[in-house]
This record gives sequence, C-alpha cells and structure tokens, in this order.
Amino acid sequence: MKKINKAVFPVAGMGTRFLPATKASPKEMMPVVDKPLIQYAVEEAVAAGIRDMIFVTGRSKRAIEDHFDKAYELESELERKGKIELLNLVQNLLPKNINCIYIRQPEALGLGHAVLCAQSVIGNEPFAVLLADDLIDANPPVMKQMVDAFATHQCTILGVQEVARADTASYGIVASTPLIEGFESITRIVEKPSPATAPSTLAVVGRYILSPRIFHHLAEIETGSSDEIQLTDGIQAMLAGEQVLAYRYRGKRYDCGSKLGYLEATVAFGLHHPEVGMAFAASLKNR
Ligand code: UTP
Repeated sequence: MKKINKAVFPVAGMGTRFLPATKASPKEMMPVVDKPLIQYAVEEAVAAGIRDMIFVTGRSKRAIEDHFDKAYELESELERKGKIELLNLVQNLLPKNINCIYIRQPEALGLGHAVLCAQSVIGNEPFAVLLADDLIDANPPVMKQMVDAFATHQCTILGVQEVARADTASYGIVASTPLIEGFESITRIVEKPSPATAPSTLAVVGRYILSPRIFHHLAEIETGSSDEIQLTDGIQAMLAGEQVLAYRYRGKRYDCGSKLGYLEATVAFGLHHPEVGMAFAASLKNR
C-alpha cells in the first residue's frame, strides 16, 4: 500500500492578473484576511498527513521561505514587548515535524515544468500537488478527502468540479466515464478548450495526487497551450498506461488567482473569522 508523504506547491508563476501586487512578491503570499494563501494550502496538506512540503519557487522566492522560517528579530521584539500570544502564533505556524524544501524553477515555463522541477526530491513515489491560489473551504479539507481516496484506489486522482461551459477555456477539462459515486474514470484531458470544443464541463482544479510516472511524461512532452509545458498534457500522455480518476471533491472553491474570486474569498473567510467576523457582517449590512 502506497502512502502520500510529500506535497509540491508550485509558486513560481508570474501572477500577471494581480500586477502590480505581484511585482515583488508571489501571488501565493497574498493574504485572505490574515493568512497568506500558501499557508492555507500547507495547512491543508498537514491535515492530510503530509510531512514534506516542497515549494517550487521563482524569482521572488524569499517571501515564501521567510514566511515558514524562523524570524529571529521579530520573535525577540515580540518577546521583549511581552506579546506572547503573537509570539506563539509566529513560532507555531507549522507543526515541528514538518520539513520545508525549496527548489528553484529557473524560468516560468509552465505548471508541468514546475512539477518536473520537484522530481529529484520526490523520487519514485506518488505525491500531492496543491495550487495555493485555489483556496477551498471544505471539511474535511480536500487533500484529506483525496488522500483517503488514494488509500483505496492507489492511482492518480485529480480534483474536479463542474464549471459553466462559457468558462472551459480557463481550465483543464476531462472526458470521463462514471465509476462510483463521486469518481469518474478519465479517458481524455484537454488544456483550456474553447466552449465549442470542450469534451465536457468537468474541470480540473488545483488539487492532484500524481503517480511518479508523470515525470517521465513531463520530460518528454513539448510546450502546449500558452507556449508552456502543461501538466494537463503530461496527464493526457499518462492515460495510455495508467488509470487516472477524477474526484468531485466536497467543498467550496475560490479562484484566488482572479480578482473576483479573491474578493469573494476575502468576504467569505472574513465573515467566519473569529475576531472580526461579526463586526464585518454588521459593516457589510450597513453599506
Ligand atoms: P497560473 O496559470 O495561475 O499562472 O498558474 P500564473 O502565472 O501564476 O498567474 P497569471 O495567470 O499570470 O495571473 C497556476 C499555478 O502554477 C504555478 C503558479 O504559481 C500557480 O500556482 N506556476 C505556473 C508555476 O509554478 N510555474 C509556472 O511556470 C507557471
């Protein structure tokens, strides 16, 4: 029985939809209320029992490394001022048994290329990929749902959801046949098809459990849509030799790579926030 021990967080994208906010800092560091997107994603991986967090970083990697690293000056300043609650907060962002590993993607050549950059650390075992800009409010968290499903199916599993046909050009879209409740067996996957040519309206979101065979395919494929090495194309190549499942996750996703999705997430998480939720609800009501 194989187990998922490692998660890859590709955080090397250009984040052009959020310029100038993403000029000097990755979009995964943008906060929803008081936590950066990357921290929500790492907490989701921790909740799924994953211990090794592998960040594939780009030009502005420092912010992410610093976020999960010890902050000597800040900690001693908080201690000196007696701000113990805040000190505990910054010292305990992650459980102590978590390893953070950083790999550089030298050029933003696409999501598939970013995943391929993690090959030497992953080796020959199945692994998770989480795209932090897909923030998913779910209980249990979506990666936990998928790791549980992996324990049964022992194959590649992609998180999917229905989208409007008009939106297919923003996603990887699958053709599939139903398997059991919540699961489909994928027969084809296409990156960003137009609404007219999309094989369905079942879209892949930023949660994957991948067989290590994906590396072999990613190393072979040519650049695809948007002139990038697409993870979708690697998965399509893998379909010839392995079963790939689509899993209709339970939860509410916010596309925080887009301005509208990010604002919606801020409102939803703000309303549930223990400190400001009630005051925020009252303030929205009075607008
Ligand atoms: P996106 O497709 O959202 O691209 O990447 P992007 O560059 O981040 O954002 P826009 O479209 O320019 O606004 C999906 C995920 O893949 C990562 C991104 O960081 C994001 O988590 N990615 C993308 C990489 O790590 N490397 C790449 O070369 C491309």
